Amino acid sequence: LHVVHVTAEMAPVAKVGGLGDVVTGLARAHLCQGHNVEVCIPYYSSLEGKVEDVQHVMDFDVPKGEQWEWDGEKEIRMSDFQWSMYSGKIGGCPIIALRPAFREGSNLFVGQRIYGGSYNEAEAYLSFCRASLECLRVTGRDPNVIHVHEWQCSAVAMLYWDVYHAQGLLNNAKVMLTIHNMDNTGECREEEFMATGVPGSEFNTLEKAMDERTIGHNPERLCLMKGAIVYSNYVTTVSPTYAREALNGSAGFLGKTLMKERTKFSGVINGVDTEIWDARLDNFLPANFKPGTMEGKALCKKYVQMGLGMNVDPHKPLVVCISRLVPQKGINLIEHAIPRTKEKGGQFVLLGSGHSDPPFQRLAESVYKNDKDVKLLIFYSDALSHLLYAAADCVLVPSMFEPCGLTQMIAMCYGALPIVRKTGGLADTVHDVDDPSMSDSKKNGFVFEGADNNSLDGALDRAMRYYHERKPWWKGMQEQVMDIDNSWERAGEEYVQLYRMITGIREDNDH
Ligand code: ADP
Ligand code: GLC
Repeated sequence: LHVVHVTAEMAPVAKVGGLGDVVTGLARAHLCQGHNVEVCIPYYSSLEGKVEDVQHVMDFDVPKGEQWEWDGEKEIRMSDFQWSMYSGKIGGCPIIALRPAFREGSNLFVGQRIYGGSYNEAEAYLSFCRASLECLRVTGRDPNVIHVHEWQCSAVAMLYWDVYHAQGLLNNAKVMLTIHNMDNTGECREEEFMATGVPGSEFNTLEKAMDERTIGHNPERLCLMKGAIVYSNYVTTVSPTYAREALNGSAGFLGKTLMKERTKFSGVINGVDTEIWDARLDNFLPANFKPGTMEGKALCKKYVQMGLGMNVDPHKPLVVCISRLVPQKGINLIEHAIPRTKEKGGQFVLLGSGHSDPPFQRLAESVYKNDKDVKLLIFYSDALSHLLYAAADCVLVPSMFEPCGLTQMIAMCYGALPIVRKTGGLADTVHDVDDPSMSDSKKNGFVFEGADNNSLDGALDRAMRYYHERKPWWKGMQEQVMDIDNSWERAGEEYVQLYRMITGIREDNDH
């Protein structure tokens, strides 16, 4: 199969959260099976110098509607946009990287990372959607599957069917949408949609004709993800439980639309990219380890305790939380867990990125400034995240909702037991060690249900107690969770089956 992913993130060079990990992991799993996979991403400035064998392939014109943009000094007209196409590889995976030709270093895709909310975010991604389809056309690619991710690339589904396929410009493809998070469904004004070269009013009218309006929360706005749900041949989300939560309306306002389209909707649990997350081989670690020879893990813990200026004590359970600091992630519970862990004789390290309320940065500089059992690190660091997973005894994920969640699975790859709230993909991947309905071999962590401090304490306190009181049991659990197979092989296969279903291509020699 020839699959082109269209995505806003790709790990490790353009990653804010799990979306980037998933695209790279899934693409690599399919490449290993012999499929032809390419990932189309914006050429962010963070890619500079990080793409293997990078080559400028060509510049091409992308049809555009009327659009004006601030160039730093004045409004300039953006019609008839030229884009540049680059080829190369990231982590061995072929990429197509696109950026506006005449504005290198301008404000469309700048930054080391891609934090949302910049003033022209919607237009930037909408024009990228159009450019990616135009690039497929001008380079004569006609893949079997165009796999689009999240709201940022959602407009591709509608543009493909109503413009490219309708006009015979691209013929082969079927479109798959993966929803990673319904928290942001991508709403835009009709005028902003014009960045695709197609008027937003047309989008709206077309969908109304299908008895499926694009209107989002705000009746004035188009909802890009909703449009893609309607236009895609198949829609997945990233865990079966989140799929159920989405259908019953508890995961966001698109429940009705999904209900209507439910025969083409399901949840496929994400995998972990075991080339990136592997305690046996991880280059970021001072020592590697595996079940049977776990001494390296103790060394990693010591290394982190020393490096961060903490009490160097192998007997204190180290609880780690690595997270974007947004309400989804249960920031009040994270804040509560810090003193609670200390009270129970443990240590706490938070590696958190993004904005937050409560303000952890202030806590880091005041209450916990000289604390030798607590470190609050408010920034993004890939290298440090590897070290922390390896050093951790427990990884805390107290999310309010969680479509899948990767940190709990990554934790297990490094022999850290997850402490999670029972929601979305966390409910599918973590099974409480005291759950009598679970077979022993499936038990792998500490689970709580409520969204309040007491519920969290129930799980956290048990973890701290078992760590102190049941040493051999804990060691056995660490090795047991490391042996769980959360790799992309299984999930990758599920996606291949879905691709085959929508394309009708059954044979491997059809690659
Ligand atoms: P989400 O995509 O909602 O952020 P996931 O659990 O799916 O949640 O994925 C989070 C990914 O981002 C993991 O790979 C995690 O290690 C990484 N991550 C989150 N915050 C940070 C940070 N501050 N520094 C480094 N990596 C981070
Ligand atoms: C989203 C979700 C997270 C999921 C990730 C990858 O960012 O918040 O739960 O694991 O996407 O699919």
